[in-house]
Amino acid sequence: MNWSARTRAVNTGRQDGDGDPANVPIVPTSHLGLAYAREDGTATWRAFEDAVGNLEGGHATAFASGMGAIAAVFDLLPVGAQVVIPTDSYAGMRHLLEHAETSGRLRVRPLDPRDTDAWLAAAVEADMLWLESPTNPSLFEMPIAELTAAAAAADDPPLVAVDNTFATPLGQQPLSLGADVVMHSATKLIGGHSDLLLGVTVASSGRLAEQLRDARVRGGATPGALEAWLALRGLRTLPVRYAAVSETAADLVKRLREHPSVVDVRYPSLGGGMISFELADAASADAFCAGLRLIRHATSLGGAESTVERRAARPSDAHVPPGALRFSVGLEDPDDLWADVTQALDHVG
Ligand SMILES: Cc1ncc(COP(=O)(O)O)c(C=O)c1O
Repeated sequence: MNWSARTRAVNTGRQDGDGDPANVPIVPTSHLGLAYAREDGTATWRAFEDAVGNLEGGHATAFASGMGAIAAVFDLLPVGAQVVIPTDSYAGMRHLLEHAETSGRLRVRPLDPRDTDAWLAAAVEADMLWLESPTNPSLFEMPIAELTAAAAAADDPPLVAVDNTFATPLGQQPLSLGADVVMHSATKLIGGHSDLLLGVTVASSGRLAEQLRDARVRGGATPGALEAWLALRGLRTLPVRYAAVSETAADLVKRLREHPSVVDVRYPSLGGGMISFELADAASADAFCAGLRLIRHATSLGGAESTVERRAARPSDAHVPPGALRFSVGLEDPDDLWADVTQALDHVG
């Protein structure tokens, strides 16, 4: 049967023998007889990997964090390779590549994610296109299918990797759009409860998956048993959480667009729980954050609880407009969220 993503999120990765427990056990072990957990994995990791791999349509490998997964993807490249990245993108990834460039390991070419022509031209020369769509924090969307087609048409096709953290496999499946590797910070929407750090890659081929697994064996960024178990539990409810935050976010976007203190609102066409909205300046945005009573002024995102952060306050995201706020919409009542937003906007004056 062709079960829907919602059904597969609930059921994939379970044992289905007679008398098996409903959930895979937490396997807290460093070795399983002659097998060593860092090299061979455990049943808990595999259940999580099976479920994410099933939803993304590829071969998944779990890592200790999203950054662990990102490092493994860049590890696929030989010394001196050129990576093209979006200028607006997750700051930790850019930090890792700054280091790789300074130490002479990789060449990095940042391009505006909105400049599709520049990306199409770069696809011919690059060794890897690193896409993020929607981008963190500005929520720009990139034409994944167009870029993978351009990459495939190059004489020496670059690998195309996509950070799919914001869209989740419910929003889009980049492998089906021609990408080679997908990466998630499962810390965010997949885990969904702000109670763990975890990452995952999903490769389009068994060969790439083996290379990524080998990077995990060498680098040692292995998932914790409890984290992998919790992330799988989070994944079971991802479809309903994603639908709920998408509905609430769409409602809040409408209201934000009508509010006189809000100068700009950005919301991805594919939905999701992330909104970017802009107030007049940094002081107004800081006053807004200080005035919140329900929504947490906090970093990170994708949890059950709503959070807001002014990313331009961080040197790594100084390119973002000073009054822009990244809003991670949670599972609270939309009317309560709007009541908190409006009272905090009153605070701004
Ligand atoms: C889009 C995106 N990718 C990757 C990461 C890194 O993931 P982690 O913090 O789990 O290492 C983050 C973290 O904020 C993120 O937002």
